[in-house]
Amino acid sequence: LQIDPDELHTADFVVVANRLPVDKETLPDGSIRWKRSPGGLVTALEPILRSQTGAWVGWSGVPDSHDNPVVDGLQLISVPLSASEINEYYEGFSNATLWPLYHDVLVKPEYHREWWNAYVEVNRRFAEAASAAASDGAMVWIQDYQLQLVPKMLRMLRPDLKIGFFLHIPFPPVELFMQLPWRTEIVEGLLGADLIGFHLPGGAQNFLYLARRLAGQATSKGTVGVRSKFGVVQVGFRHVRVGAFPISIDSGALDAESRSRKIRARAAEIRTELGNPSTILLGVDRLDYTKGIDVRLQALSELLAEGRIDPSDTVMIQLATPSRERVDSYIQMRAGIEQLVGNINGTYGEVAHQVVQYLHRPVDRDELIAFFVAADVMLVTPLRDGMNLVAKEYVACRSDLGGALVLSEFTGAAAELRSAYQANPYDLDGVKDAIMAAVNQDDEEGRRRMRALRRQVLAHDVSRWAKSFLGALGSTQETASSANRG
Ligand code: ADP
Ligand code: G6P
Repeated sequence: LQIDPDELHTADFVVVANRLPVDKETLPDGSIRWKRSPGGLVTALEPILRSQTGAWVGWSGVPDSHDNPVVDGLQLISVPLSASEINEYYEGFSNATLWPLYHDVLVKPEYHREWWNAYVEVNRRFAEAASAAASDGAMVWIQDYQLQLVPKMLRMLRPDLKIGFFLHIPFPPVELFMQLPWRTEIVEGLLGADLIGFHLPGGAQNFLYLARRLAGQATSKGTVGVRSKFGVVQVGFRHVRVGAFPISIDSGALDAESRSRKIRARAAEIRTELGNPSTILLGVDRLDYTKGIDVRLQALSELLAEGRIDPSDTVMIQLATPSRERVDSYIQMRAGIEQLVGNINGTYGEVAHQVVQYLHRPVDRDELIAFFVAADVMLVTPLRDGMNLVAKEYVACRSDLGGALVLSEFTGAAAELRSAYQANPYDLDGVKDAIMAAVNQDDEEGRRRMRALRRQVLAHDVSRWAKSFLGALGSTQETASSANRG
């Protein structure tokens, strides 16, 4: 690890995440460009780091990069990964073991000892980088499933730090978690933190049960609340707090951007370019098997076959960011989805009118906002999702109170967005009915629902999320002994 000695131990606030907020890209002429990294973690954390000074420790997205650039005023510290570590720690243990295990075993998790060894080794490197960056008594906030061993490793290196951990994906039920050969090490790794955050109370409670059962620690027994009533695990003389903090977006900024004349004009232009259909359906996702892109395509296909949707007057846009493209389950899923798109267009399209418009690439932020403004019905149908920020982004962009949100019950967002058209993604008839209810809603009903959704999303933005987590972390020592113990 090459860190400028002048920058050692200077940051009072350090975010540690597998990815930096930007990916390193080398252009054909050899020059370097930093472009935004994919995913909801970066969407949520970037505005937080902009509003306070700090350092961000993470991987640059390419092998063997040691760069520590300052990008847009933010100090970035690269943790280098070799090509084989990318394969074993990132694509392997993180995304072919933990990701499917924590998402309801939607594909079979693979358990390989060499992947685990790489995970341990890389987590140690992240802990060392965080330790080198943090000032005396600093606050260090570790993010997500790729780094679950870092809290304990970092505490051993730097007992002076305040250490928080937040999990951005679901924390699984005990019956599934127990599959993991290294289940005890993971629970003990997390218990190195002072505060462990999950999106939902259910995840926090799953963790408390495992801390009792696997790590043999005494824990509180009462229910965990949302941003309140934290659980407590007693680890020696320390009290580790466990809480639920549903993540969000910079909803005010998105609301303001979506009102601009330029975005409005572009949204109208998109509708014209599509041939002025009565209904635009929209999906926006990383291309991931958890997102249920196949579910919404299957639902559309049946609605077309049954004549409930008119192919000449309807367009579904599916924007799909490429993701984890070398992992087998992602390769297979992509082929399945592209086949479904091809089937629908082959059966119901015309030369000048495709029913499904599918883009396999990331879209610029302004363009994405224009798509949200243009869409009559937003389709968010994951089989399992920790939160799903896309659902909140759509709502934040609809100051006109137009549009309708179809939302899977199995997203974290479903707990907050009660006025969406919710459906069980495993019940295809239920999904089809929710889509039709959204397509045919009358204006008054639509406005009533969107007003309620917007009240939730605008009041609970990402700054409130960060404040509630960091506020609780900051007060850990003072209040640990008075926290709810059962
Ligand atoms: P995840 O973190 O699993 O990818 P989220 O819905 O929580 O899912 O966050 C995804 C983020 O990525 C959102 O900010 C969304 O706007 C962005 N995003 C998803 N798909 C695209 C796309 N095709 N183009 C640009 N941004 C996208
Ligand atoms: C989800 C995960 C993040 C991850 C993102 C993008 O949001 O919770 O940790 O960064 O997906 O995935 P990637 O594998 O490209 O980093």
